[in-house]
Amino acid sequence: MSVSKKEYKRVTVRSLVEMKQQGEKISMLTAYDYSMAKIVDAANVDVILVGDSASNVMAGHETTLPITLDQMIYHASSVIRAVKRALVVVDIPFGSYQSDPKEALRSAIRIMKESGAHAVKVEGGEEIKDSVKRILNAGIPVMGHLGLTPQSIYKFGTYTVRAKEEAEARKLVEDAKLLERLGCFAVVLEKIPAALTKKVSEKLTIPTIGIGAGVHADGQVLVIHDLLGMTHEFNPRFLRRYMNLYDEMGKAIGQYVGDVKSRSFPNPEEQY
Ligand code: KIV
Repeated sequence: MSVSKKEYKRVTVRSLVEMKQQGEKISMLTAYDYSMAKIVDAANVDVILVGDSASNVMAGHETTLPITLDQMIYHASSVIRAVKRALVVVDIPFGSYQSDPKEALRSAIRIMKESGAHAVKVEGGEEIKDSVKRILNAGIPVMGHLGLTPQSIYKFGTYTVRAKEEAEARKLVEDAKLLERLGCFAVVLEKIPAALTKKVSEKLTIPTIGIGAGVHADGQVLVIHDLLGMTHEFNPRFLRRYMNLYDEMGKAIGQYVGDVKSRSFPNPEEQY
């Protein structure tokens, strides 16, 4: 069921701020390929994130670190060809923006030019402010990402909830305010306490998009493979599965194998 207060023919970064002002929650989902993006877009998801989680769910890596800028551009251009309504945001991958602001801008420009995406996303606050500024100065919209930032997983050591301690929570609030001041159009908050999400969302005029961050975020994001139940071994508390596609697909594929083996596929109507 769609609960949009206003019909958006095309979602823009301005639409998202407007949704926050109107108290309308923002829906965001990942997609990495043409066929999936077509379904996600047709279902009226507001923002499609071509996340570097492609490294996990598409390529089978343990972390998001190995995916390259060229691979992100490949995924993003496939998604862009499918999308008519959603705002498409692309993660700048690990190693393509942290070393210096000029490199960050070059990476962002490649994503925008070669894929046709609408915005980029980067992880971090104060540490990457010069890169964020440089990208924004070139007219490229930037989404921030704070809390559990998977590109820094080896610094954290675990995927547990972030910013439970006072000092880390205070830094997160300051980083969120900084990203807003710099000109970011939204901030993802990943795996932080719901009370902290409430505080940040109330302090910012730009929207917060939560994943494992509770109900007070201005929007929610999930990885599409998790929502559809394809990643059956991944069971964090925050995940609501809307299907069990792992089992459903397995069953269908098993039936096909059985039909081929028993010669019941193809039947006379399925041949020329
Ligand atoms: O890469 C990704 O999918 C993400 C979301 C989990 C926010 O960054």
